[in-house]
Amino acid sequence: MEVENKHFIIHTYGCQMNVHDSEILAGMLGQMGYSQTSKEEEADIILINTCTIRDKAEQKVFGKLGALKKLKEEKPNLIVGICGCMSQQEEVAEKIKKSYRHVDLLFGTHNVHQLPEMIKKILFNNERVFEIWEKEGEVVEGLPQQRNEGVSAWVTITYGCNNFCTYCIVPYVRGRERSRKPEDIVEETKRLASEGFKEITLLGQNVNSYGKDFDESYDFADLIKDLDDIEGIERIRYMTSHPRDFTDKLVDVIANSKKVCNHFHLPVQAGSNTVLKKMNRGYTREEYLELVGKIKKSMGHVAITTDLIVGFPGETEEDFQATLDLVSQVRFDSAFTFAYSPRTGTPAAKMEEQVRKEDKSRRLTALIDLQNQISKEINEGSYLGNTFTVLVEGPSKNNPDFLSGRTTTNKLVNFSAPSNESLVGQIVKVKIIEAQTWSLLGEVVL
Ligand code: SAH
Ligand code: SF4
Ligand code: F3S
Repeated sequence: MEVENKHFIIHTYGCQMNVHDSEILAGMLGQMGYSQTSKEEEADIILINTCTIRDKAEQKVFGKLGALKKLKEEKPNLIVGICGCMSQQEEVAEKIKKSYRHVDLLFGTHNVHQLPEMIKKILFNNERVFEIWEKEGEVVEGLPQQRNEGVSAWVTITYGCNNFCTYCIVPYVRGRERSRKPEDIVEETKRLASEGFKEITLLGQNVNSYGKDFDESYDFADLIKDLDDIEGIERIRYMTSHPRDFTDKLVDVIANSKKVCNHFHLPVQAGSNTVLKKMNRGYTREEYLELVGKIKKSMGHVAITTDLIVGFPGETEEDFQATLDLVSQVRFDSAFTFAYSPRTGTPAAKMEEQVRKEDKSRRLTALIDLQNQISKEINEGSYLGNTFTVLVEGPSKNNPDFLSGRTTTNKLVNFSAPSNESLVGQIVKVKIIEAQTWSLLGEVVL
C-alpha cells in the first residue's frame, strides 16, 4: 500500500526509548508514503507515544488526548493512535478504549513493527484496532528508521529491563532485557559514521548488563572496545549504567578507550541504605561511593551525574538527610531529581508508610537547592577560565548568534565563533568565560 499526499505527526513523551520507537514509526510511515508535518490540521495520522514513569507524565498524555477530540470530530477520517508505555498497562488501556472513543488505534511497546498492517486494517475495515502483546518478542532488526539529521545519534543496544527496582514501572511495560547482536550495533554505527554523525550514545535501561542474555561471553566492555575503532565516530556515550553492574573491567576499558567520554551518569536514587534496600537497587551507599572513587582515580577529570528520588515509602527525615549528605560527598555535576510517584502494579505502590505530599515537595526543594549550588560551584571552580574541546551541534537555542555543543563531560556550552556554519560537526576548543548552573558560556580559541 502506498498513499499520496498524506501526512502524519508523532507526539513523543518520555525517554529515549520512546524517541527511538518514534523514529521507527516515522520510518515505516515514510515507507508507506506518508510525510511528516508539524501542523495538526494537516495530519491524516496523529500518534501519541506515551510514557508512564510518573503520574505527571500520564496526566500530560490524557490532556493531549482530550484536546484531540475536537479535531477528530471535525475530521472523521483522521487516525488517532496511542502507543508506548501507557498502553502496556491494562487498566490504562481499558480506560482509553472505553472513555476515549476518538482513539482509533492502540498498540503496545512490543507491537511497533506491526504499524503498517494496523493502519491498513483501519483504512480497509473501518474499525478500531487494538494490538497489545503482553510479552516481548524477538528483537526485530532491519526496520526503516527516520532519524533527524545531526551530529549525535542514539543507538539502542538493549531493550527492556530485568532489575525490578520496586518503584519502577519500566520492567512491566518494556519487558525482559534483550541485547541486540554486536554485529548489528557495529553495522549501524558504521552507517551512522558514513552519514556524518560524530557521536553515538549507546542506549539501554541498564547498558552495563548488555550481553548477559548471550550464550557466548561478550559484554558491554567488549562492545565498547569494538565500537572504539570505528572511523568517523569521535565520541561514545552511553545511558544508563547501573551502579551495581559497573565492573572493574568496564572502568578499565573506558579509561583506556580513545572515544568514550569522561561523563558517568550513575543513578544512585537515595543515600540511605535502608531505602536503597527497599528499592531493590542491589548496592549500598558505601559500594556506590567506592565505585565513584575508583572512577575518579582511574580517569582524572570526570563529570558524575545522577538520578535521585525523594519520598520513597518509609523514607524518614534521617534517610533524607543521608541523601543530602551523599550529594555533598560525591558533588555531582548535576542530577535529575524526582518526587516518588506510586505506579500501579509495582511493589512500592503497595508499601505502607507512603510519604505525605507536602514532605515530598519540601524534600525535593531542599535537594534541588543543594544540587544547584554544587553544580554552580563546580562550573565556576573547574570550568571558568579554562579551555575545553566542544563538539559543535548547531546554533544555540537561546541566541542564534551563538553556537552550542558539549564538552566530553557533557556540559552544555554556548559560545561565539568567527564564522558559525562551517563549525557544525567539528570539535573545537572553547574558552569558558561565564559559568552558570545549567550551562557555560564561552568563545572559540583558534
Ligand atoms: N534505567 C534507568 C532510568 C529509568 S527511569 C536507571 O535505572 O537509572 C529514570 C528515572 O526516573 C529513574 O532513575 C528514577 O530516578 C526515576 N523514577 C523511576 N520511577 C519513578 C517513580 N515511580 N517515581 C519517581 N521517580 C521515578
Ligand atoms: Fe527502572 Fe530500575 Fe530498570 Fe532503571 S534499572 S529501568 S529504575 S527497574
Ligand atoms: Fe517512560 Fe517508558 Fe521511557 S515509561 S521513561 S517512556 S521506558
